[in-house]
Amino acid sequence: MLIRREEPADVPAVHAVASAAFAKPGVPITAEAILVDQLRTSGAWLPALSLVAIGPQGEIVGHVLCTRGHVDAMPVLALGPLSVDPGHQRRGVGLALVHSVLGAADAAGEPLVCLLGDPDYYGRFGFRTSTRFGIVPPDPAWSEHFQVRTLTAYDPALRGAFTYAEPFDNL
Ligand SMILES: CC(C)(COP(=O)(O)OP(=O)(O)OC[C@H]1O[C@@H](n2cnc3c(N)ncnc32)[C@H](O)[C@@H]1OP(=O)(O)O)[C@@H](O)C(=O)NCCC(=O)NCCS
Repeated sequence: MLIRREEPADVPAVHAVASAAFAKPGVPITAEAILVDQLRTSGAWLPALSLVAIGPQGEIVGHVLCTRGHVDAMPVLALGPLSVDPGHQRRGVGLALVHSVLGAADAAGEPLVCLLGDPDYYGRFGFRTSTRFGIVPPDPAWSEHFQVRTLTAYDPALRGAFTYAEPFDNL
C-alpha cells in the first residue's frame, strides 16, 4: 500500500470510497461523501492534508483529510471523514492513513488535530478527550467522542470553543 496526496484525477474515486465506507442500508446518498466534495471547494481545504491510500492494483482504497477548524479564533485542524473501502477494511489502511496525516500535520507546524470519533479507535493515535485540553466540543453531548491530538507546536494556552468549517454544518 502507498499513501500519497490526493490529485485532481482522484476526486471521483475518493467520492466512491467515502460513499461505500459510510453507506447505510436504505439511505441512497452518503452525507460524508458529499461533505468531502463540499470541503474541497471551501476555504477550509488544505491540499497537502488530503491523502489517499493506493491498493495493489493501483486503485484508491482509502482517504483521509484534515481541514481548517478553529479554537476560538486560532487555526487548528479537524480530521475527517476517514474512509476505507469496505473490501479493504481491517488490513491497516485506516492505521496508515491516520499516522500519515498526523505526521504531515506535525511537519507543517500545526498545533493540534480535533475529531469526532470512537475513542477505542482513535486512542491508539494519541487522541484524548478534548476537555482535558480545555477545548470545548461544538456539541456538549459529544463528550468523550470529541478528541484532540496535540502536535509538536501545541501550546497549552490554546483553549476555547472548537468550530468546524461551515460545510460540516450540513452533516
Ligand atoms: C474505521 C475505519 C476507518 C478503520 O479503517 P481500517 O482500515 O478498517 O482499520 P485498520 O485495519 O487500520 O484497523 C486498525 C485497528 O483498528 C481496529 N478497528 C477498525 N475499525 C474499528 C472501529 N470502528 N472501532 C474500533 N476499532 C476499530 C481494528 O480492529 C484494528 O485493531 P487491531 O489491529 O488491534 O485489530 C474503517 O473501518 C471505515 O472506513 N469505516 C467506515 C467509516 C468510518 O466509520 N470512519 C471513521 C469515522 S470516525
